[in-house]
Order: sequence, then structure tokens, then C-alpha cells
Amino acid sequence: MVAAALALLSGCTVRQEADTLRVGLALYQQEDTFISGVVQEMERLAREEESRSDLKINLSIADGDSSQALQLDQVERFLDGGCHVLCVNMVDRTAASLVIDYAKEAGVPVVFFNRQPVEEDLRRWEQVYYVGPRGEQSGVYQGEIVLEAMARNPERVDRNGDGVLQYVMLEGEPGHQDALLRTEYSIRTITQAGVAVEQLASASANWSRGQAAARMEPWWQEFGQEIEVIFANNDDMALGAIDVLTQAGVEPEDMPLVVGVDGTPEAIAAMEAGTLAGTVQNAQEMPQVLMDLVMALYRGESADTVAQVDDEHYIWLPYRKILPNQIP
Ligand code: BGC
Repeated sequence: MVAAALALLSGCTVRQEADTLRVGLALYQQEDTFISGVVQEMERLAREEESRSDLKINLSIADGDSSQALQLDQVERFLDGGCHVLCVNMVDRTAASLVIDYAKEAGVPVVFFNRQPVEEDLRRWEQVYYVGPRGEQSGVYQGEIVLEAMARNPERVDRNGDGVLQYVMLEGEPGHQDALLRTEYSIRTITQAGVAVEQLASASANWSRGQAAARMEPWWQEFGQEIEVIFANNDDMALGAIDVLTQAGVEPEDMPLVVGVDGTPEAIAAMEAGTLAGTVQNAQEMPQVLMDLVMALYRGESADTVAQVDDEHYIWLPYRKILPNQIP
């Protein structure tokens, strides 16, 4: 009242100090193409929310630089700094229990995303959530993309006409649920449809374009046009394989069928250029759902006001197939 009276006397309006929502956003590695896309969109949504309400949203980002020890320090720092909600993209998804224990002690809800902790850990406390898609679905979609291409144009895919798909597999980071599930379900979908496959080579390229190119180089030298399909657990690695083919002077129509996952802008451009046969959009809703969930938890609302929560902790998001003739 005194302030208001003074303000009146001085002819000014009283400005209320805006409430600040402090979010700690811990990333396994900020350079990751998919993760940086999610974060950029979250930042945009936070600004949008601020412009709609009186709330100030302070999104603090910590790059774990692929070190779990570093990420744990960052989480502790967020909690010491009084963050209201933690969003964590674990470096090592089996180490989530430590994050949960710290957060529980501080009474700060935790939302994990993209790198899925084991279920036992999520059950340690009710204020813990996981937001992400079901990895197996992306593998199934990759398999379907190949099967559909084969049904449309068998000679284009099974080039040597032996009825067997010769393939190489570029795997994501070992132990990542999406790497394991995409590798398994892409192939399983094809064999379950009655199409035989032969694996020529398979290796991890840690989600990275450069590492995928380094893997692809010797495979191309060894197998060349024997390779009919290149499965990549994500788009960046698919692009790394395409880099090698392009440098070797292979025309898009002579390239093996290359499939990725994520639906990054560069992957869409590669589909337009005819080098990438298809991809799978990776949980496009993730930034929006994360922001909505953060807001709900901050306001003390229940998570199911934002989205369906399965088994008390899981918010599952969809994947979608993207083909060259169906670019969104
Ligand atoms: C994405 C990859 C990304 C990884 C990071 C996966 O779901 O497909 O592109 O590198 O998550 O954890």
C-alpha cells in the first residue's frame, strides 16, 4: 500500500515483480542435432509463453558434454540454485537414480526425455516423468519404408534380383534404447513380411555424421553396389553415408536405399534431392509437451492435464513416417 501510495504521489504505476519460473535443462550433449532442435524449440515456446503471461521463464541449459559426472554436478547446481523443475536428457540412462534422489530431496519434479531411464528408477518417486516416443515404432516404420519401396519398384531395391536384401546398419550410441530398438525392429519388420535379408556390415557411429562416413567408407570399398539398403538409426548417420556415396560419384538413382530417423531439415533436403529414401519424424511434439509439463508441475497441477500419462510416469509421443512424396 505504501508503495502504491508513493507511486500514486509520484505519478508512476506500480510494476509488480514478475514471478520467475526457473527450469534446469540438462543435456547429454548440446551439439547433438536432434537435441539442439528440441532445445531451440523449447526456447521459442518459453518466449511465447512469457509474452502471453506475467511469468518470466528462465531456461538454464547445461551441456553434459557426454560426461555423466559433469551432468550430475550440473544437476546439483540447478537444485542448489533453486530451480522449480528439472528436465534431464541423461548422459548414461542407467544412472538416473542419482538424479532422482537429489531431486526428491530438494522436492523438485524431474522430467526425463529422449534417453529413457529404466522403469525401476522412474518408480523411485511419484514426481518423475519420462517424455519420449517408443523406439520400436521407429524401427517398424523404417522397415515399412523399405518394404513399400520394394513393393513399388523391386528392381530399384533388390538390385541383384536374388530376393534377399543385402544391407549395412549404422547404429547409434551403444546402450541407447533407440539404437537397440531401431536396429532390431527395422530388420524384424522386413523378415516378418517374408523378405530375406543379409547383413553385410554393422557398426556404431554414435549418432554422428562424421563417424558414419568413416564407417561407410571401407564398407563402400569392400561391398560397393552389393549394398542394397543402408539403415541408419538416425538422419545424421544416414547423411554421413550419403556423403561417402556422393563423394564416390554415385548418382542419387544409383544409390542404395538409405533410411534414417528424426526428420531433420537436412534430411528433408536430402529427400528432396533424391538421396534419402525416407525417414521417421521423431516425436515432433516433444518440445511442446515438455514445456506444458514444466508449466503444469510448476503450478502444482497434475501431469495428466497435459497429456495421457501411462503407468504413472510415461508420456509417449508418436513417430511419423516421412517419404519424399509426403514431406510435411
Ligand atoms: C535421435 C538421435 C539423437 C539421440 C540422442 C535419438 O532419438 O534419433 O538423432 O542423437 O536420440 O539421444
